[in-house]
Amino acid sequence: FQLPKAKNEPVLSYAPGSPEKAALKAKMAEMKGQTIEIPQTIGGKKIMEGEKIAIRPPHDHKHILGYYYKGGSQHVQMAIDAAAAAKPAWEAMPWEERAAIFLKAADLLAGPYRAKMNAATMLGQSKNAYQAEIDCVAELCDFYRFNAEYMIQIYSEQPQSPALTWNRMEYRALEGFVFAITPFNFTSIAGNLPAAPALMGNTVIWKPAETQIYSAAVIMEIFEAAGLPAGVINLLLVDGPIAGDLIFSHPDFAGLHFTGSTKVFQGMWTTIGKNIAKYKSYPRIVGETGGKDFILAHPSANPTALAVAMVRGAFEYQGQKCSAASRAYVPSSIWPAVKEKAVALVKDMKMGSPEDFRNFINAVIDERAFDKITNYIVLARDAKDAEIIAGGKYDKTKGYFIEPTLVVVTDPKHRLLQEEIFGPVLTIYVYEDAQFDEMPALVNSTSPYALTGAIFAQDRGVIHALSNALRHSAGNFYINDKPTGAVVGQQPFGGARASGTNDKAGSVWNLLRWVSPRAMKENF
Ligand code: SER
Repeated sequence: FQLPKAKNEPVLSYAPGSPEKAALKAKMAEMKGQTIEIPQTIGGKKIMEGEKIAIRPPHDHKHILGYYYKGGSQHVQMAIDAAAAAKPAWEAMPWEERAAIFLKAADLLAGPYRAKMNAATMLGQSKNAYQAEIDCVAELCDFYRFNAEYMIQIYSEQPQSPALTWNRMEYRALEGFVFAITPFNFTSIAGNLPAAPALMGNTVIWKPAETQIYSAAVIMEIFEAAGLPAGVINLLLVDGPIAGDLIFSHPDFAGLHFTGSTKVFQGMWTTIGKNIAKYKSYPRIVGETGGKDFILAHPSANPTALAVAMVRGAFEYQGQKCSAASRAYVPSSIWPAVKEKAVALVKDMKMGSPEDFRNFINAVIDERAFDKITNYIVLARDAKDAEIIAGGKYDKTKGYFIEPTLVVVTDPKHRLLQEEIFGPVLTIYVYEDAQFDEMPALVNSTSPYALTGAIFAQDRGVIHALSNALRHSAGNFYINDKPTGAVVGQQPFGGARASGTNDKAGSVWNLLRWVSPRAMKENF
């Protein structure tokens, strides 16, 4: 038995006049005209009790798309019980059947649910059509399809058996449940973090970010339409600390699959450490956290390619990708050409609602993000050693809009080069060409993170030397390309240092974290 070799889901263009654009526009209008109610889903039950919280598009925050029901600690307990009840049948299910459910989910997503999934991500998370398509359709389909193949690779890895002995490795699920905590910025990550452990036979409690619940509900609908049994993935809509209290002190807590902030991850790891003697097994802790992703250009870099990468890498999805370029180091010899091109590109970017397909820049996710990012812009505006060369304006009257902003600083250790901003701000340090040899050490020492990074150079020797000098500076390293847009099956994603445990989403290494193998020997 062999599954067909997974292929990356083709990305549709949504060009004017295309059928996919017409279908997506119609679906968005239909969804905007409704006010839906989103329940928690625990053990297959739809729970509509507790406080009703409004969900609003970040780009149109007076509009209400619907409400979700916020639960409490009794629901956390219910979810733990539901995950335990579903576990024996799920882990005993033949792996082909488990895989078939997620492969069907991918086909539903690529087919009948494509417009709905995109519309939910565009409206709920303020993503333009292209950014939604590469995220919640292409990347999520890819996660489900490629993971099914990686699972087979794992299961077929078997030890040697000498004469009269039969050795076998049984890739058991973990004993207990997995807790998946997911971010707003990629619907695909939200859909993958609970699914990957589930594929390997685990049952999961899934707590999405409050700002992604609108599209999370569509993922849940797809899981159900694909035939996922009740209780395998439980959608828990409660505040993090309430969920954490019960989950991290439960003996059956067996794993954490997390994407979010470094601070929250470190806090949870500390709690898990304090509770370590309570657990049946040592829990697997897998997390992708913060970043301060860099672009370092050598004087041999192509200025146009560099400017395009800086602008796309920093500003697609308003700089809210974990992989987004946040600091750039450019040599003074090519800076005038790079600056001219980058500023022109930024001026061409239209900002507004994703419902109008001409807008490249949409709103940032919520008011808290808006306030945090604009504080950094104020800092840049007021500082003597910083200059805003493009953008810098913002307005939250209708939606949380912030112009893509380019800042040049003269201090190589400026705060703007060190701190994670998670918004459309790119800080640039222009260095003298003669200082080039000092740059790798500067890049390495300026931030504690190591998620993504890019170098630009046309000189092969320089590319080789920089790749070595920056070996530990990024888990995803790009040469002459922007640092965003990793594709499942091509560039498995994740970073080390303060950016996470580097267990590469969408890979064999990630799936291996969700099994606890049993080595079996039988004598004939
Ligand atoms: N795949 C995304 C990127 O590389 C991150 O999940 O931008």
